[in-house]
Amino acid sequence: MSPEIQRAAEILKRGGLVGFPTETVYGLGADASSREAVARLYAAKRRPADHPVIVHFADAESAFSWARDVPDSARKLAAKFWPGPLTLILKRSAKAGDFVTGGQDTIGLRVPAHPVAQALLRAFGGGIAAPSANRFGAVSPTTAAHVRADLGEDVALVLDGGPSEVGIESTIVDLSGGAPVLLRPGRITRPELEQVLGTPVSERRADSPRHSGGLERHYAPKTPARLVPPHELDREIARLKDKVAVLAFSRPDERVEYWLRLPREPVGYAQRLYAALRELDGAGCESILIEAPPETPEWAGVRDRLVRATT
Ligand code: TXA
Ligand code: MG
Repeated sequence: MSPEIQRAAEILKRGGLVGFPTETVYGLGADASSREAVARLYAAKRRPADHPVIVHFADAESAFSWARDVPDSARKLAAKFWPGPLTLILKRSAKAGDFVTGGQDTIGLRVPAHPVAQALLRAFGGGIAAPSANRFGAVSPTTAAHVRADLGEDVALVLDGGPSEVGIESTIVDLSGGAPVLLRPGRITRPELEQVLGTPVSERRADSPRHSGGLERHYAPKTPARLVPPHELDREIARLKDKVAVLAFSRPDERVEYWLRLPREPVGYAQRLYAALRELDGAGCESILIEAPPETPEWAGVRDRLVRATT
C-alpha cells in the first residue's frame, strides 16, 4: 500500500477529511460511521444538515450490509454495474446513522471503480461518506487541482488520481419503494438500467426523497449561463452586446470573445463538461451561452447538468 493511501486512511480514522478521486468526480470523504466526522464534512461543504450523503464501499457485500430488505433488483444492478458510476438508494440498516441519511429511512450506496478510491476504501476498511468535493451548489471537481481551489485549507489531504474518467456524478436509482426510480441520470443510462432489470424505470417524481442534486439551481457557474437550441445560436450571438463565452459543438465564431468546443458525443462531452464550465466561468465574460445537446437518453446526464447550470 502506498504511504499516501495509508496516511489518508489514518486521517479518516481520526475523523478528518480526505479529497479522493472516483471515476465520476472527486469526492470529499469522511468516516461514515462517525457523527463528528460527518458534521465536519457538512461544515466544509457548507451543506445543510438535512441533505443525505452517499456512502462508498469497496464491494457490494459491505455496501448491502448498510441496507435492509435488499431487493433482487439491487443485486442485479450491483452485479452488472459495481464497481462503477451507480448509486443505489435502499432502506437503511442499523449500521447507517441518521446523520448520513439526512434523517431519512433510506441510504445512498455506491461502490466506485477508480483504483485510488478502491485502495483507500480497502485501507480504511469501512464506509466512506463522500459528496462531491466542492462547496455546496458549485460545479463538481474533476481534478485534484479543482478540489484544492474549492476547499483549500478545509481538507487535510487530496489524493491525485488524474482527471475523472466519467466527468459527471453517478446515476442514482431509488429502489427503496418497490418500482425503480431514476433520481439522477449519469453515464449509465435509463435504457441500460431497464435492460438489466427487465422492467421500466420511471423518472423522479415530485415526492421522491429529498436530494441536493434535485435542487433547481445546482452545478452552477457564477456567470449567468443560458441554454440555446442549436438553430438559435447564430441569432443569439448576433444580438449580443456584451462579452460572451460560448460552449458549442460547432466551430468558433469570430464575433465571440471566448469559444469552447466539445465533442458531439455524450461520453467525451461529459468527461470535459465541468472543467469547461469552470474555464468559461473564469473567462471574464458577462454571460455564457451553451448550445443544447440532443434530447436522446444517452445525453440525459449531460442535459440534466446543463439545465441545472442554466436555471
Ligand atoms: O458520483 C457521485 O455520486 C459523487 C462521487 C463522489 O461518488 N458523489 C456525489 O455526491 O455526487 P453528492 O453528495 O454531491 O450527491 C449525492 C446525491 C445528492 O443529491 C444526495 O442528496 C443524494 O445523492 N442522496 C444521497 N442519499 C440519498 C437518499 N437516501 N435518498 C435520496 N437521495 C440521496
Ligand atoms: Mg455534489
